[in-house]
Amino acid sequence: MKKSISKKIQDLKKQIRRHDHFYYNLDEPEITDYKYDQLFKQLLDLENQYPEFKTKDSPSQKVPGQALEKFKKEAHSQPMLSLQNSYSQKDIQAFYKRLLKLLNTKSLTCFVEPKLDGMAVELIYKKGILIKALTRGDGKIGENITDNIKTLRGLPLVLKDSKSIPPLLEVRGEVVIFKKDFEKINREQEERGLARFANPRNLAAGSLRQLDPKVTASRPLYCLIHSSGPMKDDKIKTQEKFIKTMQSLSLTSFCIDRQGQLKAPLKLCRLTHSLKDLLKYYEQMLKLRHQLPFETDGIVIKVNDFEQQRVLGSIARSPRWAIAGKFPPEQGITQVQDIRLQVGRTGVITPVATLKPISLSGVWIRQASLHNFQDLSRKDIRAGDFVLIQRAGGVIPELIKPLKNKRKKRLKAFVPPKHCPACHNPLKRQGDYLVCPSIKCPAVRENKFIHFASKSAMNIAFLGKKSLKKFYEWGWLNSYSDIYDLKDRSLKDKKGFGEKSYNLLVQSLEESKKTELSRLIFSLGIPLIGEQTAQKISEKIYELHGNRNLNIKKALPLLQNITQEELEAITDIGPLAAQSFQSALGNEDLIGDLQKLHERGLHFIPKPKTDLSLKGVTFVITGALPEPREKVKKQIEEKGGRVSSQISQKINFLLVGENPGSKKKKALELNIKILNWQDFLKII
Ligand code: IVH
Repeated sequence: MKKSISKKIQDLKKQIRRHDHFYYNLDEPEITDYKYDQLFKQLLDLENQYPEFKTKDSPSQKVPGQALEKFKKEAHSQPMLSLQNSYSQKDIQAFYKRLLKLLNTKSLTCFVEPKLDGMAVELIYKKGILIKALTRGDGKIGENITDNIKTLRGLPLVLKDSKSIPPLLEVRGEVVIFKKDFEKINREQEERGLARFANPRNLAAGSLRQLDPKVTASRPLYCLIHSSGPMKDDKIKTQEKFIKTMQSLSLTSFCIDRQGQLKAPLKLCRLTHSLKDLLKYYEQMLKLRHQLPFETDGIVIKVNDFEQQRVLGSIARSPRWAIAGKFPPEQGITQVQDIRLQVGRTGVITPVATLKPISLSGVWIRQASLHNFQDLSRKDIRAGDFVLIQRAGGVIPELIKPLKNKRKKRLKAFVPPKHCPACHNPLKRQGDYLVCPSIKCPAVRENKFIHFASKSAMNIAFLGKKSLKKFYEWGWLNSYSDIYDLKDRSLKDKKGFGEKSYNLLVQSLEESKKTELSRLIFSLGIPLIGEQTAQKISEKIYELHGNRNLNIKKALPLLQNITQEELEAITDIGPLAAQSFQSALGNEDLIGDLQKLHERGLHFIPKPKTDLSLKGVTFVITGALPEPREKVKKQIEEKGGRVSSQISQKINFLLVGENPGSKKKKALELNIKILNWQDFLKII
């Protein structure tokens, strides 16, 4: 008996270590979080029942994960712990009662927050300047990822109110990717013929642990602070005050609107004064989770008072004063009614499962992409199968596997098509994908027009899919410039088109003519050239042109003559994408069409830069700097900062050059931080 228990424990430990390695070190988990937690719970239960088998190296005794060799390792000044998980109201109740008993009190104030599903990091600010960032690693030693963290969107490198915060501020949080960005990136991956990322957490973790900070910078990562490291601040005595302080420093989190921008506070975290209220918060968040811009897998309940937290202390890998109330997994079982083939605008054929409608966490799901035929054959999902379906990593549902024991004998394995379902041309294999190579394929062409007009492309607001399909059917659309000639078509006698819709169409065509080069490149629907790649190519074209004053006519020779080497020198553009771009721009019809777009009045309005890490920071400059003042001012403004001419309490920094004037004296009197040129370069 004992032998078999010991064997079971050994086996669980082995499995958990293996999954830890996949999750924390490779950022590629093999099982769902729920399954992992179940394994973990089995281990905890067995170890509690048979403590003689509990060893120091058990995963239950340590924080999982390990610092990777590729980054410099550094110790945390205080271990970064994990959280105990609970899966039921009963567990939360038990936790609460335990705390009342330990603290010998009848009531307890807790602070409750969403549990963010991201990558844990620690940030260290010294005198208000970000000096270090570490991953959690094994809890004691993490990886130094400072250079990468500095590239994060909206993360202040300098805290705006540094006088009122401790000189050494160590804070902890999660680096996340918002759901809408995650979906966009996965669309891009598919466009480039690359594998989709499993979920936002893995993408965030993978992006952060890039050796090249440029790759990190290219990903829309945000850091949301939720807890403090060692804290020496008499003014911050509760978690509530801590979160409020973090909000005021633009360092957190729970102030996010639905678009995922850091904006006005939404009451996502709050105080609770009773068990009933705690459970109510859990229910509220469970309902709200899909409307939140980031992934959450539960709530975190924390004792609000830091002194009470200190009294409660920690056990091996987690504090006694906090618990995670995990949400149930969002899985279900439904039946595949059919597997359809969809032809995309780049010719990629995607198998899509039509499902017996199923509601998962309040959303009806009727279909699910099976991504590509490799994926489909690996999973062996067949029309008629019952399947396990999951909503994870945003709103896109994922078919996990067929329930083979429920499969009827007659169901046949899906056979990938040999010919395009729309034009019947033979398909070609491109990596994991099957592609229709015909430029005349009606499905490809129709989808190209739909893509061209779509929101992230030319954004022609009143030219929807339905109308486009009609116009295409009537033979009005042969090239992109034909779209702008729609205004000359007589829509009056056509069913479903009134004067109002005509006017709106004309207006939105006009509006879309003010565009960006990157949008135009993306709109062309070139295989492997997604939104981000188009953005990068456009920046390169501006660089080659020498300034940002560009129109289609001037851009054309640059677009046609950009070399394979120049394209491949751009991060993330591989030889296949480079070739694809060159071959598209080598097509005379397309060049003619672009010229016509120029004649129709399409022109570029350069996009402002988006790194706003100095937002809310005001500088005053005095003395002679190594670079012209106007240039320095522009650098500050491009990052969202401001330059003022007068010293006052509101100023964050005085940048001092040679022979400073009286401003330096005044800044010293007002205790304003003084930067020399080197300090400034570090910040910028
Ligand atoms: S507090 C002592 N608050 O979940 C641990 N953690 O599974 C203090 N997490 O390691 C952490 N959202 O990285 C806290 N609102 C939140 C959180 C949160 C996500 C992460 C954190 C922690 C992990 C444990």
